[in-house]
Amino acid sequence: MADPVRQADADVAALLDFRRPAFLRDPYPTYRALREAGPLHCVENGPLRFWAVTRHADVLALLRDPRVTVDRLPPLAGDPSAPPADPATLNPLARTLRTLSRVMLFRDPPDHTRLRGLANKAFTPRMVEGLRPRIAALVDELLAPVSDGARFDVVHELAEPLPILVIAELLGLPASDRKELKGWSDDLAVLLDGSIALQHLDRGIRSAILVVEYLRGHLAERRRRPREDLLSAMLSARERDENLTEDEILATALLVMGAGHETTTNLVGNAVLALLRSPGELARLRAEPGLLPGAVEEFLRYDAPVQGTARAPREPIEVHGTVIPARHEILLPIGCANRDPAVFVDPERLDVARADARHVSFGYGIHFCLGAGLARLEAQLAIGGLLARAPRLAPAFDESQLAWRPGWLLRGLAALPVTA
Ligand code: HEM
Repeated sequence: MADPVRQADADVAALLDFRRPAFLRDPYPTYRALREAGPLHCVENGPLRFWAVTRHADVLALLRDPRVTVDRLPPLAGDPSAPPADPATLNPLARTLRTLSRVMLFRDPPDHTRLRGLANKAFTPRMVEGLRPRIAALVDELLAPVSDGARFDVVHELAEPLPILVIAELLGLPASDRKELKGWSDDLAVLLDGSIALQHLDRGIRSAILVVEYLRGHLAERRRRPREDLLSAMLSARERDENLTEDEILATALLVMGAGHETTTNLVGNAVLALLRSPGELARLRAEPGLLPGAVEEFLRYDAPVQGTARAPREPIEVHGTVIPARHEILLPIGCANRDPAVFVDPERLDVARADARHVSFGYGIHFCLGAGLARLEAQLAIGGLLARAPRLAPAFDESQLAWRPGWLLRGLAALPVTA
C-alpha cells in the first residue's frame, strides 16, 4: 500500500511545476499550500528531482550554512582552481567558459571571499550614491512623455530601459550600445534560470561569448586610459592585490550585467502592478511620500523579482528530521519565505507602511546581493517619479491579459500599460 504521507507530499510537490501556466502567473497559492503541507518536500517533476524548504527560517539557515555549496558548475567550465591559461591560446567558447567559472555567485570561499573583496572595493555605497543625480536625470528623460491622461507602458518605457542605462553608466560603457547590452543581459539572465528551456541556454552561451569579448575590449581600453567607472576601479583594486586575474574582473562585470538588469526591471514593474491592484495603498503612498523607502522593501517582499535560489550540501545534512544526501539540490523559494505567516503579519496583503519587511529578496549571508543599494535607489527614483508625474495612475490592461515573462526564477511582466 502506498505510504499516505509520501503520497500527500507528492501531490503537493506536483504543484511546484515550473511549466504550469497558473503557477507562473500566480505562484502564491502554491507556496501557501506547500508551507501548510510541511517545511520540507522532495519534488520529482519529470527529469527534475530536488528538495524544497518552505519556511523563512529554513531559507535563512541554509543561506548561511557553511556545509552547503554554490559551486555546481558542469566540469565543462574547467577547473577554476587551475592556473590561468593565456586567453590568447583559447578559443572564444573556452575563454568564455573560463570566465563564467569565475563568477562569484557560483564560487565558495576562499575564492568567493577574494572576488567579493574586489567587488566591494570598487562597488562602494559612495559610488552608488554618486549615481543618484544621473539616475534621477535618466528617470526624468524616460518619464518625459508622461502627462495627465497619457497612455504609457511602465515596463517598456521605464522599468526596462532604466537599469540598462544605469549599468552602462556604472561600467562606463557607451549608452549608444544599449540595444546590444539589453539583448545580452536578457540572455545572460537566462543562464541563471534553471527553469527555462534548454534552447534558451544555447542563446545565453552565445551572448556570453559576445559580451565577454566586448568587455575584454573595454578592459584593455581602461588599462590604457583609466576613467571614473567600475571597470577602472576594479583594475586599480587589482593592482593592490596580485591574486586577481583579468578573467575574474571580466566575470564580475559580466555578473553585474546579468544580475542587475532584469531583476531591477521586475522590481519596478511588479511594484507598480501591486499598487494598481491595491488602490488604497497607492493613495496612502501618494499622501505620505516619506513612506517610499519602506514601501520599496514591501514591494520586494510582496512580489519578489528573484523568486528563489538553490544550494547543495557538500556532506549529508539533516533538515527537519530528514537526511538530505550530499550534492542533492535544495530549492530555497524566496517568494514563499517572504509570505511566511510565522514572520509576517497578514503576509498576503500589500502594506506600504509594514514594519516587519524582513524579506529575503536580496538573499542572505555571504552572497547577499551586491547591487541591493543600487536597486533600491533605482526603484525609489523610478516609482517616486512615476507617481509624481501620473496623478491619476490607472491600469490600461485587462487582468486576464497580463503577460508575464517566461520562467519562474525571474518574475516580471512583459508589459504594463497604464494611463497617467
Ligand atoms: C531588485 C533587484 C535585485 C534583486 C531582487 C537581486 C537579487 C539577488 C539575490 C537573491 C542574490 C543572491 C543569490 C544567491 O545567494 O543565490 C543576488 C546576488 C547578487 N546580485 Fe543582485 N539583485 C538585484 C539587483 C542587482 C543589481 C542592480 C546588481 C548589480 C548592479 C546585482 C548584483 C548582484 C551580484 C554581483 C550578486 C552576487 C553576490 C555574491 O555572490 O556574493 N544585483 N542578487
